[in-house]
Amino acid sequence: MKLSIIGTGYVGLVTGTCFAEVGHHVICVDNDAAKVKMLQAGGIPIYEPGLEELVKKNVAAGRLKFTASTAEGVQNSDVIFIAVPTPPQPDGSVDLSYIERVARDIAAAMTSYKIVVDKSTVPVKTGEKVTETIKRYCTAKTEFDVVSNPEFLREGFAVGDLMKPDRVVIGVGSQRPVAAMTEIYTPFNAPIIVTDINSAELIKHAANSFLALKISYINAIATVCEAAGANVQEVAQGIGLDERIGRRFLNAGIGFGGSCFPKDLSAFIKISEQVGYEFKLLKEVQRINADQMERFVKKITDTLWVLKDKKIGVLGLAFKQNTDDVRSSPAIDLCQRLLKDGATLRVHDPKAMDKAKSFLPNVTYVDDMNAVAEGCDALVVATEWDEFKQLDLARAKAGLTHPIMFDGRNLFDPAAMEKLGWIYKSVGR
Ligand code: UDX
Repeated sequence: MKLSIIGTGYVGLVTGTCFAEVGHHVICVDNDAAKVKMLQAGGIPIYEPGLEELVKKNVAAGRLKFTASTAEGVQNSDVIFIAVPTPPQPDGSVDLSYIERVARDIAAAMTSYKIVVDKSTVPVKTGEKVTETIKRYCTAKTEFDVVSNPEFLREGFAVGDLMKPDRVVIGVGSQRPVAAMTEIYTPFNAPIIVTDINSAELIKHAANSFLALKISYINAIATVCEAAGANVQEVAQGIGLDERIGRRFLNAGIGFGGSCFPKDLSAFIKISEQVGYEFKLLKEVQRINADQMERFVKKITDTLWVLKDKKIGVLGLAFKQNTDDVRSSPAIDLCQRLLKDGATLRVHDPKAMDKAKSFLPNVTYVDDMNAVAEGCDALVVATEWDEFKQLDLARAKAGLTHPIMFDGRNLFDPAAMEKLGWIYKSVGR
């Protein structure tokens, strides 16, 4: 099918590429001309495993194109996906100005029937507003349908999540767009749920809030485990094997971050408030998440006492593994807390060091993870990168003034670490 995707951020670029990979003809549109130029020249603005190869392959096959012109995208496709940012506003509500702008641009360029699909995460009832906007600004007065098709991809696993989705949600206001939407997604072999637009929009916020709730739940259990002398990983295993619960998203740590969970939680609390429900449960999820960081910092200060003039090595800056994204990263938050208390930092991240520099200008960036500990008073693990498990522990120990490790992601085995002579503090164990 002929598709265009407006917005080449994480969601837009990966979605467009995966649509091309299954045989659709895709035009990716972005108003950032420099970004479009970079993509046209074969550059990829984000780090996402597997993405670069797929972009190259599909550009070479002539199925994937980039342009800065919305009109070009709209006029050369039957289905137009909106994948622009919906950032949070200071009061937690969602800034929908990019969506509104794109809806107007699409309306102005439409000269025949189009399906306009919202892929960005938006509050319930946004579809209604997009429909009104297109109606108002479409000078050619052509017919169109608005569809809600939320995206559930995780950064770092985006290509896999898109190629093999657990489900595809299609929210429609009439039957007319269903056949085309089904055709787009048939190659992905996933269950397709066709529902109304409001329910589709709500599914996205309800899913992300539930996952955040799951993490806060296990973090609260971790606190109880610490007080009771139990091990949160064993508990997670024990409850996670119950299929009704599931083991995933039950890893205790320093809390969740990233560009989705914190923002979507605030938005969902606000949306619920606007329809007359105070979502206290989700407010508690936020509180537990904030507390989790406080408790970890306290663990560090309880052991090191005064942080002023202490040198601390930090492994991890990204908000999670397999990404260079540092937006709302608990690791960055932690570093800023330690710096504020007067510590100096030596930091390493496999992918996120460049992006971290504007948030952490006054730290030493170390290219080799095994060299981070040198001359430090303690080592902190802040992101769950798998490769940190291969850390040369003997070298790290020799480099530290005292073999102290605060593991905010439970990457090492407490008993083994103790045996190796470490003072090892993790979360909920
Ligand atoms: C999330 C959703 O998973 C995805 O479906 C949605 O489309 C966008 O938001 P993402 O933000 O990319 O994806 O990351 P995710 O893998 O969900 O992790 C979010 C945060 O939770 C990270 O900071 C991660 O470290 C933390 N996390 C995750 C935990 O602390 N424990 C866990 O068990 C899982």
